[in-house]
Order: sequence, then structure tokens, then C-alpha cells
Amino acid sequence: MREKIVFYLNHERIEIAGAEAFQPLSTWLRYRKGMTGTKVVCSEGDCGACTVMLGWLNAHGKLEYRIVDACIQFLFQLDLCHVITVEGISEGGHLHPAQKAMVECFGSQCGFCTPGFVMALADLTEKAETHTSATIKDKLAGNLCRCTGYEAIVKAGLALNGIPSPKLLERFDRKAMEEEFNVLATHSVKIAGANGELFFKPQNLDEALKLRAALPQLKIVAGGTDLGVQHNKGKSLLTQVMFIAHLHEIAEVKQLGETLEIGAAANWSDVLAATEQHLPELHAILKIFAAEQIRNAATIGGNIINASPIADSLPCLYVLGARLVLTSISGTREVDINAFYTGYKRFDLQPNEILTKVILPLPANDATVGLYKVSKRRDLDISTVTLGLHLKTRAGKITEAQLAAGGVGATIVRLRSAEKALVGREWSEATFAQAGQIATSEISPQSDVRGSAEFRKVLVKNLFLKFYAERQPV
Ligand SMILES: Cc1cc2nc3c(=O)[nH]c(=O)nc-3n(C[C@H](O)[C@H](O)[C@H](O)COP(=O)(O)OP(=O)(O)OC[C@H]3O[C@@H](n4cnc5c(N)ncnc54)[C@H](O)[C@@H]3O)c2cc1C
Ligand code: FES
Ligand code: FES
Repeated sequence: MREKIVFYLNHERIEIAGAEAFQPLSTWLRYRKGMTGTKVVCSEGDCGACTVMLGWLNAHGKLEYRIVDACIQFLFQLDLCHVITVEGISEGGHLHPAQKAMVECFGSQCGFCTPGFVMALADLTEKAETHTSATIKDKLAGNLCRCTGYEAIVKAGLALNGIPSPKLLERFDRKAMEEEFNVLATHSVKIAGANGELFFKPQNLDEALKLRAALPQLKIVAGGTDLGVQHNKGKSLLTQVMFIAHLHEIAEVKQLGETLEIGAAANWSDVLAATEQHLPELHAILKIFAAEQIRNAATIGGNIINASPIADSLPCLYVLGARLVLTSISGTREVDINAFYTGYKRFDLQPNEILTKVILPLPANDATVGLYKVSKRRDLDISTVTLGLHLKTRAGKITEAQLAAGGVGATIVRLRSAEKALVGREWSEATFAQAGQIATSEISPQSDVRGSAEFRKVLVKNLFLKFYAERQPV
């Protein structure tokens, strides 16, 4: 058992023990290391000013790099990782091409957002050599600028087209890091702080389950994107935790026949990639799920257990009849997600259990699926209302219907009466208009900053008509 975490910060090897391990990376960088290039604006993953590149060991023992928000990455999550900050990307006094492009295209004014944009653009040049306005805008969806405006920044992105090698990552001795990390990964980690802080990083699922049974008070942390925000807002401090996002055995995404099996610790970027071919409707929703920095860390398991009625994955999981695999030292059980939630943030998970897998049946050839997310902004916004529809038809008539709406009650709501109203009816505007009207009687939304209860009812009704206008029966 190791009692410190080990990671690399740019070229420097870092060891951390004790209470220091419980700090957000951005706080530690700025106040402990004096590295103020990484800015903090929102502290809740919304603005991207704190963007860094993070390399972590993939299932093949190789470092894989992605951008994340340092304000909601805690040091304990960084064990056996390589952090690259904006200070680490220039070389020998020469700016990185992304920095140079920002200067030359006048992409910065006050400069507060600039390091975050630079890091996202630097990552873009690592992953591809050609960029369009559309790919640049997608990449930068998690970065906000409030004074320069985006035109100059996108221009900087376009100026990076065809950037010649060597790339940024080739400047680091990744082979040496990988060799060291792969040896260290054979030990679990325990860190105790002076004020009762406790951190465990189990070596495998078996150990995680034993820890869960012995110390059920430990908060499970996967991506930490929900928990990190709660911590930073002082709502629920992360002081006694068990980290699980590194457990490859529960992070795999694979297609098995007609189902997609998604490990609970799979992050949304991996699920996004896996759904492009097999479930394009979910893929489209995941493209506007948060932004890349969040998707690279956030997991499907976290989304399910956070139990928000506006969690974007849930309508899809409901209408396709996803089964949740819950595992403890006593064994494994499967629960239909439609029976999992029992009230607002209440669900059928025992204190000794971990959600380990989501079994998602893929739509059959004769099924039509519609998934909708309505929010004030397209990117990086919380849903006002979500809707999932899964219908089967034969000879122009609807033979089966599963419908689920979010943002309209304490949990996702199955619209059973609207389902009944659809079955046996023709695929027509009148059919969907009537079902939408019936759906409004099954929901009890609240009014809040994202919309009034009445507005939400109108949205649900209109989404039925949108589905009809956009989709044809298979
Ligand atoms: C800026 C921002 C934008 C966001 N945008 C969206 C969005 O567009 N749509 C959306 O739906 N959500 C969004 N979220 C919420 C969040 O990113 C998701 O809910 C995410 O999937 C949570 O995953 P995580 O791994 O980060 O969870 P964590 O924060 O690690 O954990 C969340 C909860 O789940 C528990 N948990 C995690 N994994 C397991 C497991 N395997 N077994 C048992 N318990 C577990 C934790 O103990 C905790 O209670 C956003 C968050 C932020 C900060
Ligand atoms: S400070 Fe805004 S995302 Fe981290
Ligand atoms: S340059 Fe000021 S916020 Fe972007």
C-alpha cells in the first residue's frame, strides 16, 4: 500500500501525502506552486479558464492525454497521471504554436480566459492537423471568453491548420513515466490527513468492493464533476473518498450482439465515440452534454447515481430499458433503470454496492428513437426539459411505445398514458398531438430559473410534434 500519490507536472515528478492531496489541482497549482497561468473564474467546470492537459494510463498501460478542468480535478485523482499546464507548453523561450496564433490573431484582451483556450487549442493540434471552424468551435465549447469575442479565437484555431511536427507530447519522456506508473499501479493507495481526511485508491474492483463493505461512509469519486462542484460550493466536502475512475475493469464500452455494455466508470468521451455508429441519437445528445473538458472526466455511473431528474443520459436509458448491474462482496444483481429511482435523489443502491455496468439494449431495426434536450444555450447548459421516445411500428401503425421525460418532476417520468394513447394508432400528426397533450397531464414540473412549469408542459407537448415532423417510422 502506497501512502502518497505520484504524478508528473510538466517535467517535474511530484509526490503528495496527507491533507494536501484533497485540494483541487487549480488551487494547488496557483497557491502551492505559484503557477498562476492556470486561471480560476467559476470553480465549477463552466468556463474552461483552468483547462489543463491530463495524461492517464489507459487499459493498455499507455498514457492517453485529454483536456480537463483543473478546478474540479482533485490531486488525489491525479495519481499516476501527467499534468501539462500552460507553463509547460512553450519551449526554449519559444511560444507554442497555439500561443503564437492567439497573439497573431488578436485572440486575447484581458487574458483571463486565454490560457484555457490555448490549452484546448494545443490539444486540438495534438489530435489532428486540419481544423474547420466547426471542429474548432466544438473543441472550444467548454471555454468562455467575455471580452475578446470568439471570432479572433476561432481564427487562431484556423491558423493552426497543418501545424508541423514535432508535437507537444513528444517533448516529454512518456516512456519513462509509463514504465514507472505501470509498476506503481500494482499497489493500492491510502492517504490519511491530519483532520480525518481519508483517501483510498483500490488496485482492482475486488478491493473496491471490500472497501465499500468495510467503510460505506467513503464517498465514491469517479470523474468528480458533480462532487467537485458540490465541494467547491462548500455543500459537501470531499474528505473521505474512494476513487474508482482508474478501474479499467468497470470502464470498458463494448458492443455484445444487440446490446451495448458500458462500464460504470466509462467517461462520456468514450461513450460518445462508441455510440456514433450504434446509437446515433444518444451520440447527438452526448455531443451537447457539457463540453469536452467535462466529458473527458465525467462518467455514466456518476450521472446515474447523482440522480438528477435532468441528467441527460436518463431518458435514453429509460426508453431502451437499460439494466444496471450493482455489485457488492455478496454478488451481483441487475435492476431495470425504470425501477431504480424511488424519489428525488433516492434510488435502490445498497450501502455496500457499487454500480459497475450499464447494459443498454440497442434499438431493433423496426424501432424509431427520438432523444431531445432543450436548454437555454446549445452547449454546456443544464437541460430545461428532456424527452426520450422509442417506438415500433408495423404497416403504418404504432405497435409499441416507451416514453420518458426529464425536468418535469422529482425523477424521470415514464409517460405511461401517452404510451397507451400511441399504441394501435396510425403514425400521424393528430396521433402525436394527442399523445403530447396526454403527456402534459402526467407530469408535474416546477418553475425555476430555466423555465416556468407551464413552459415546460408546452415544451413536452411540442417535442412530440417535433418528433413527428422530423422522424419517419422505420
Ligand atoms: C460544467 C458542467 C456541465 C455539466 N453538464 C451536464 C450535462 O450537460 N448533462 C448532464 O446530464 N450532466 C451534466 N453535468 C453533470 C455531471 O458532469 C454528470 O452528472 C456526470 O456524468 C457525473 O459523473 P462523474 O463521474 O463526474 O460523477 P462524480 O461526481 O464522481 O459522482 C457523482 C455521484 O455518483 C456517485 N458515483 C459515481 N460513480 C459511482 C458508481 N460506479 N457506483 C456508485 N456510486 C457512484 C458518487 O459517489 C456521487 O454521489 C455537468 C457538470 C458540470 C460540472
Ligand atoms: S474555473 Fe471555470 S472551469 Fe475551472
Ligand atoms: S480575453 Fe478577457 S475573457 Fe477572454
